[in-house]
Amino acid sequence: MAEVNLDKIFASFLLSLDDIEDISELPNIEKEYLGKGSLLSEERSKLATLSNEDKKKYGSLLKEFADNVSTKLDNFKTEFEEAFFIEKEKSENPDISIDWYSKKGSKKHILTNVMEEVVEIFASLGYTVAHGPEAETSWHNFDALNTPDWHPARYESDTLYLDKDLNNLLRTQTSTVQVRHMQDNPPPVYIVAPGRVYRSDQLDATHSPVFHQIEGLAVDDGITFSDLKGTLEYFVKEFFGSSVQTKFIPHFFPFTEPSAEVLVSWKDGEWLEILGCGMVDPNVFKNVKYPESTQGFAFGVGVERLAMLRYGIDHIKNFYENDLRFLDQF
Ligand code: DAH
Repeated sequence: MAEVNLDKIFASFLLSLDDIEDISELPNIEKEYLGKGSLLSEERSKLATLSNEDKKKYGSLLKEFADNVSTKLDNFKTEFEEAFFIEKEKSENPDISIDWYSKKGSKKHILTNVMEEVVEIFASLGYTVAHGPEAETSWHNFDALNTPDWHPARYESDTLYLDKDLNNLLRTQTSTVQVRHMQDNPPPVYIVAPGRVYRSDQLDATHSPVFHQIEGLAVDDGITFSDLKGTLEYFVKEFFGSSVQTKFIPHFFPFTEPSAEVLVSWKDGEWLEILGCGMVDPNVFKNVKYPESTQGFAFGVGVERLAMLRYGIDHIKNFYENDLRFLDQF
């Protein structure tokens, strides 16, 4: 009896557990090590022939062996089942979110690309990038920009206000960044401010309640309308190609005087409007406490508009639907 080495048997039991490929093999192993005819049961039946002392000693060794085997079998079963259910759940509820970081060929959104491209064109002329908050005060969005209380742009219908007193809002234009930048920095100023803006607009082919603009501002000694024209003509040719012509037509913006809209020549002799611009109104300089003699120009361009024209996109909602069939084209 003493020659039966329980440790060795336990080791071989562990090896057979390691070899299991399917849970259905488990009962056979259990039978082999604990069941009728197993070494354990043979040894147990021999206990009766032993002296009381040996019976006690060897009996408790056999019990310990049996307990260890049972515990291992139970643990094995639990782990195997857990792994099985995890696999099953994975196959029944696949994770459909896209793992952008490992997805080959993932890239920036078309609007990000267009914004970066515009910023780079102006950076090549010496402009730097400025940012401002999307939640703004009405003063920065309207008053400072020479847009008084009675102005139609302030009607609630165009604007998403954040309080009943109409003192705070989601900015309707990136022109707010002009104001903030001039309050914090003396002239000269050459900045572009890309960002998201909000209006209480219905979605249609060319309007969305959330869209993107890039504001530009140049303030320096002796800046004139010719500088504005030259700068924006350069931008249009860089962005759309050297054969595209520009046309400046008079317009009204509260914060510029004179103001203009820039149109670009398109297919079939059509002219399409792409941005608003003008010489900064002296009242704006006054509001940011710049000297009275200050001169400068400003412009604001819609990013979606630029992208729609350049790529022939027919509905603005394409930018926001995150349909990879659309986004992958750019
Ligand atoms: N903020 C104007 C808009 O949202 C665009 C604009 C027009 C900006 C003329 C300007 C400007 O800086 O001078 O429609």
